Amino acid sequence: MRLEPEAMTSLKKRSRQGEEVFEVAPGRFFFATPESAALANRINSKELSLPDTLVDTFLKKRSCPFSWKTLRKDWIQDLREDTYAINIFNSMDKTLIRNVDSLSDMKRLTHELIMAPLIEVIFGDLDETTKLKILNFQKSNIETLSDKKTSTNSLKFKVSSFLKNFRMTMVLRKEIKRRSRRISVPHHGLIDVVCRYLPSLKMERAVDAVSTLLTATAGPPGAAATGLLYELVRHPDLCQRVEREMAQVDPRSLIDGNYDDVPFAHAFLKESLRLWTVPFVFRNVRSDMAVCGQSLNEKESFAASPYFIHTDPKYWSDPEVFDPNRWMNGNSINKDAYVPYGWAPRLCVGAALGERQLLLMLWLFTNRYSLEDVRTSEEIEFSAFQQPVSFTAIIKKRDQTE
Ligand code: HEM
Repeated sequence: MRLEPEAMTSLKKRSRQGEEVFEVAPGRFFFATPESAALANRINSKELSLPDTLVDTFLKKRSCPFSWKTLRKDWIQDLREDTYAINIFNSMDKTLIRNVDSLSDMKRLTHELIMAPLIEVIFGDLDETTKLKILNFQKSNIETLSDKKTSTNSLKFKVSSFLKNFRMTMVLRKEIKRRSRRISVPHHGLIDVVCRYLPSLKMERAVDAVSTLLTATAGPPGAAATGLLYELVRHPDLCQRVEREMAQVDPRSLIDGNYDDVPFAHAFLKESLRLWTVPFVFRNVRSDMAVCGQSLNEKESFAASPYFIHTDPKYWSDPEVFDPNRWMNGNSINKDAYVPYGWAPRLCVGAALGERQLLLMLWLFTNRYSLEDVRTSEEIEFSAFQQPVSFTAIIKKRDQTE
């Protein structure tokens, strides 16, 4: 049972009355339909030049113009590199073996399982001390985001997150400087793409870009992994079907991005991403705009909700039911109403790698490891992402001759 926040329930009520866009508070809007959400995102992000640096703003100078689209394009290209998926697979395997036979909090474990190898995707090789600092920073961010009771308005919270972010800024500056000195070494993580543009980006915007990567990889991917495993343990019949398929494939074909032999497992993943998606995506209005008859002014803000759209009965039959078969055998799906990676032109840059990582995790849990003594709550709660109220299990190594 999903314990939807009151705000979500009231948005649903208003949208069922036919409203496509509405003002939820002064200057804060909500786009309720796939069409209006896509249009608002497209118009708002038409021009994605980075803001001037603080130093330049202080000196009343314009910074060198630089488009966010340049970084996005190069990151997407860089993420096609196969070594990322191989390293991710090996890293997840190592984490699981370390946790065999002990009782695990599966929410925490799945977040770490997914997030830790992505640090390597962003930074390539790091010294152990820096890696640990970044890992702890990411873990602490996940804790904050998953705790729906955290009061982000309290002074204590603001001071401690300022200090935490300041310390991380220092770590990132140091790392960017170190990388920029030996930039000729190829494929050492997404940070190298940033370093390549350092002369025009300048340090402040380079740090912001790497911070965006850290923010994006601490939360949604891990929450998707928790949801995927949760559905697997709660649907033993479907789990058996996934297991049968996964037993027939070598993980190397998944590493290569070939999912032809696992159509049901792939459908299982898509269905899981439908229900376990982020509740909201928030945007500041970059310049005055009009969308679906609604005027929005610069400095106002708007939200759209993948979860809201993924559970709208206008687009999905029995939207609350977990049914991977809706993705099978050419069943027709309204593609505009499936947005687990957000909206263009700010669509997730790691969507393909994220999907591959989740399928590789499924392979590990259906071939090399199993879960015993599983305890899950019925209730699923919402914070910055969704998670079951509780989910614990003991990870067991499978007998490879099984
Ligand atoms: C299945 C796993 C993943 C899911 C469900 C997911 C989901 C999302 C969503 C919903 C957004 C849009 C957020 C917004 O507009 O505010 C997003 C953006 C982003 N994601 Fe992912 N993500 C996943 C994996 C990854 C991975 C593996 C990477 C990088 C290696 C990544 C990097 C990013 C970046 C950089 C953005 C910001 C794009 C921009 O602002 O232009 N994501 N992701």
